[in-house]
Amino acid sequence: MNLARFPRRRYTPHFTPIEPLPRLSALLGGPELWIKRDDLLGLAGGGNKTRKLEFLVAAALAAGADTLVTVGAPQSNHCRLTLAAAAREGLKCRLVIEERVPGSYDSAALGNNLLFELMGAENVRVVPLGSDLAAEMASDVAAVAARGGKAFAIAGGGSTPLGALGYAACAAEIMAQSFEMGVVFDRIVVASGSAGTHSGLLAGLVALNAGIPVTGINVRRPRAEQEGNVWALAVATAALMGTPVPAREDVVALDRWVGPGYSLPTHEMVEAVRLLASSEGVLLDPVYTGKAMAGLIGLAREGAFKQGERVLFLHTGGSPSLHAYAGDLRAPGRQ
Ligand SMILES: Cc1ncc(COP(=O)(O)O)c(C=O)c1O
Repeated sequence: MNLARFPRRRYTPHFTPIEPLPRLSALLGGPELWIKRDDLLGLAGGGNKTRKLEFLVAAALAAGADTLVTVGAPQSNHCRLTLAAAAREGLKCRLVIEERVPGSYDSAALGNNLLFELMGAENVRVVPLGSDLAAEMASDVAAVAARGGKAFAIAGGGSTPLGALGYAACAAEIMAQSFEMGVVFDRIVVASGSAGTHSGLLAGLVALNAGIPVTGINVRRPRAEQEGNVWALAVATAALMGTPVPAREDVVALDRWVGPGYSLPTHEMVEAVRLLASSEGVLLDPVYTGKAMAGLIGLAREGAFKQGERVLFLHTGGSPSLHAYAGDLRAPGRQ
């Protein structure tokens, strides 16, 4: 795996920390838990999309684009970070918002919606669930062409083989840190959404012959569908890198913590967000890392990990959306 062959912008000048979670480990009484702090990546508010955008924005600049176009959910971290990358590069940015829960987009909402405005999105357009998102982005690309500009469309979540390279790079970073720290990880747990993070990580670990299994925790789709998506993207990412293809059985994406649907709160998510905040001072988010951590906690309580097994939770960010979910997250009786 030689990622230096791919053009890349740099948005984080250092490795993100890997830290132990001693109080959470003691509370759960089983596995030894660690956390990889990708919530501390560069660009506004950090999070996993920063790694993908390093490669995607480099491609946009190479294509001579003056505008980025992308798509995401109403409180999309991906939209926030694409907008931040555009601002950093002196590009314009247009957002297509897919209203996955009808009526859920509120331009006056806090969290990421406020940041869309602060960072100066050129246009924010809301489309209903089920829209042809590629066609919607193409119409924004055409609008930019009509004013004499050139737009570059970035798929939802930046989850293309090029974007997933960011998480193959993260796999290499984790292996370097593991070696330096002298800490061997037995498993990595990660949120699995548009699949680029999970796929890139898996493809990178397989390319490095790391021997570390990855447990994905779904935030939206049923298990079989998500595992198919992750595997297809992992295979395409390995093809781009010219490295061995992950086996289908290496892909695990559990759907037991999705709850009633994407972005809809669950008791387990609220417990996980409150527990990490109060026991370790780590802020998760309600849509992705809160549900992924709920999965990790649930698995630990079920005895799915061996005593002392070293489990690394990949914190993919998202805390800027916390304030938009205050009503769901406050302790009962405290409004
Ligand atoms: C904070 C956060 N964590 C995890 C994910 C899921 O990553 P992916 O879409 O690459 O599966 C996202 C995606 O939007 C996210 O914003």
